[in-house]
Amino acid sequence: MKERVVRIFDRMDPKPDLVLLANSTDPHVDQTFYYLFGVPSGLFEGSVAIAHPDGELDILSSPLEAESAEQAAKNDPHVQVHVVNREDTDALVPKLAGNPGTIALHYRELTHDWFVRLEKVFPGAKWVDASEAIRRTRVTKDASELERLRKAAEIGSAVGREIPRLLKAGMTELELAAEMEYRMGRHGASGRSFATIVAFGPHSAEPHYQPGSARLKSGESIVCDFGAIYERYVSDITRSFHFGQRDEEMKRVHDTVEAAQRAALEAIRPGVPAKEVHLAAERVINDSPWKGRLTHGVGHSIGLAVHDGWGYGPKAEDLIEEGMAFTVEPGIYLPGKGGVRIEDDIVVTRDGYSFLTTTPRSYLEVPA
Ligand code: GLY
Ligand code: MN
Repeated sequence: MKERVVRIFDRMDPKPDLVLLANSTDPHVDQTFYYLFGVPSGLFEGSVAIAHPDGELDILSSPLEAESAEQAAKNDPHVQVHVVNREDTDALVPKLAGNPGTIALHYRELTHDWFVRLEKVFPGAKWVDASEAIRRTRVTKDASELERLRKAAEIGSAVGREIPRLLKAGMTELELAAEMEYRMGRHGASGRSFATIVAFGPHSAEPHYQPGSARLKSGESIVCDFGAIYERYVSDITRSFHFGQRDEEMKRVHDTVEAAQRAALEAIRPGVPAKEVHLAAERVINDSPWKGRLTHGVGHSIGLAVHDGWGYGPKAEDLIEEGMAFTVEPGIYLPGKGGVRIEDDIVVTRDGYSFLTTTPRSYLEVPA
């Protein structure tokens, strides 16, 4: 996509002769490859994208994805597809590249193995890092990206609304996670954006807990953190519930997290440093009896990846811009007892934000 290629070059000074992306084996596939190429289907392991300063893009595709690649190129006059076997890739790359002096690579995604190959392909080239230019370009979404993010969020929200009906005493965390993932598929997701987190009782005090064989008991907190992929774009949503007999402390914890999320959301508008969003939530939590129990940054950008290059905590100086999409996800975690996190996806508008996710956020006590 010419526009996107040019925007990346525009953010680099001096401009390199090329930006070169090289994919390894999944999961070491650079999502920026899809961002520039816009191909709707295919994995493109081992593929290379050579982006030129005028916006033209050469794609080296394996025969595995030739059909998808050629179809996508028909819709974009600025893309040339070259179908090539892996063993011929290294010889074709310099032919398409011309004789570049400075080559920009995506240091944060390129494997060392590929770098060693490229050093042999381009002896004497000067390497520069395109990571920051790519990150800054990808963080602001265009209309077609927002449409996909909205759809991914709708799928996540639909499953979020169904969770209370799925809860049954004695079910395991893994069973609930499997049911949620199945339902995301039924609602139109092509996959999950990350390994679904389902945490019962004390496990819910660990933000990145991985579900296991623990069984749901009355009186327990539940944290479900999950997301859908739709046309390569993701959602990321967390809802917290309480199962059975009420726990007054967890109810107050939930009220505090809701208030923290509201404060964070109110801070969102173009021109504000991202840390202000984090600090707004943190102030609410630190003024409560659970001071210090927010143990992570309050959000991150979403897009082709669930952590799409930008996380924000108390030191994030990046300014918020219209069109950015990110999560707002404060939490309070009480080790040994349980936790509450509420996470929504939003897009920044001209004077504030609008929600992508729509599942109700208020405290829900589900009868055991
Ligand atoms: N949803 C998991 C995370 O944001 O880290
Ligand atoms: Mn998240």
